[in-house]
Amino acid sequence: MDFMDSVLIVGSGGREHAIQKALLRTDRPLCMYAYPGNPGLAHDGCMLLEKTLDGWAELAQWALENEIDLTIVGPEIPLVEGIVDVFEEKGLTIFGPNSKAARIEGSKQFSKELMKNYDIPTAAFEVFTDKKSALDYLESHGAPIVVKASGLAAGKGAIVCNSKEEAVSALTDMFDKRIFGDAANSVVLEEMMTGEEASIFVLTDGKDYKLLPISQDHKPIGEGDTGPNTGGMGAYAPAPLVDDALLHRVEKNIIAPTLDAMRKEGAAYKGLLYVGIMVADDGPKVVEYNCRFGDPETQAVLPLVNCDLYDVFYRCATGKLGDARWEVLPKSCATVVCASKGYPGPYEKGKQISGIDKAEYNKPNVDVYHAGTRLVGDDTFVTNGGRVLSVSAWDDTLEGALSAAYDAVDQIQFEGKTCRNDIGAKGVARIKK
Ligand code: AMP
Ligand code: GLY
Repeated sequence: MDFMDSVLIVGSGGREHAIQKALLRTDRPLCMYAYPGNPGLAHDGCMLLEKTLDGWAELAQWALENEIDLTIVGPEIPLVEGIVDVFEEKGLTIFGPNSKAARIEGSKQFSKELMKNYDIPTAAFEVFTDKKSALDYLESHGAPIVVKASGLAAGKGAIVCNSKEEAVSALTDMFDKRIFGDAANSVVLEEMMTGEEASIFVLTDGKDYKLLPISQDHKPIGEGDTGPNTGGMGAYAPAPLVDDALLHRVEKNIIAPTLDAMRKEGAAYKGLLYVGIMVADDGPKVVEYNCRFGDPETQAVLPLVNCDLYDVFYRCATGKLGDARWEVLPKSCATVVCASKGYPGPYEKGKQISGIDKAEYNKPNVDVYHAGTRLVGDDTFVTNGGRVLSVSAWDDTLEGALSAAYDAVDQIQFEGKTCRNDIGAKGVARIKK
């Protein structure tokens, strides 16, 4: 074995920085690269590949020449485009599903039909490729209803419509104005589910699987889940919404049947399967699958995993997860996202950020993860995106974790810093009850 294993992380968000920091939490020496990465990854010792690539084959060639032992892919687009297929053809080891398996996120038509064919609980639905038939269905079913572009739409392709008018307008946007382009060549109309959502992360090598702590995202910008949706303003884990009995049901009725269905479809799933569930009165149902780690849930989940993640990811990629050493800490973790003022609408960039070092100093239970930052000169970070950074803290209790996370958030300053002050509130209320 080489003295040092080499890792390439693909992606550039807070999720990827959290993956890097989690890999560094053991004493395994690692040589790390990121494409394209961000200033936080670079600050923590990642070499960033600063090149414009002409397709994934070029990155695979680079990985081959630089003897990369393991590539870890963060975002869905490379996975759906087939980065795993390209790397594996070259004999490289890569963590993530191949393009056939990534359809579970890349095509809602595929995932909804999979659930229907294999009796996996989800909202009732119908798929349409023309507006006229979709309008007829809407006429007979009425509102509320959810209109979804089948393909990838940067998290914006699901429109929850409370009235028929809203649904007609969503269909016009998709079929006539083509605001999602080819991603809305097929459109799913589905029943609106009510309940509370949770994010379930399943690490799998195609045969065995391990569950990460259950988390909850906070999508809307405003406190009390008000205002427009964002990429996610915070998360915490474990979420008491999913207790052991419910988790047992989720494993039996959703996770095991999903992995089994993918094998039967000749699309055995390896990597991280994100199952978004709705806990409804009549039990848990699938809202969506993603073929990758969620952001910001990853930032709240990985600090609770107490094992050699390089080994775990490597085993997922090579079909040997069954023998992995696996331990989850009996603690809670909270993540608060700091965003630019105006996000998810227009916002200004280039605001100087101070206090990141102070937030982490002498606090082994606090991490700051960069997302939309830029390095100016040798040591000044400025804002460069909507979601600028996220702060995670972990502690014996959820309240302790939240208090440590908000203390750290208070240390970080930039003009227009915007965060939600009620991250984890639902969890705290549930625990108290
Ligand atoms: P998706 O693009 O399928 O991930 O959906 C994004 C978000 O839209 C979900 O996290 C839910 O909050 C909401 N959503 C999607 N489908 C439904 C549904 N059938 N009923 C209620 N809310 C939904
Ligand atoms: N946090 C939601 C997502 O990653 O899709």
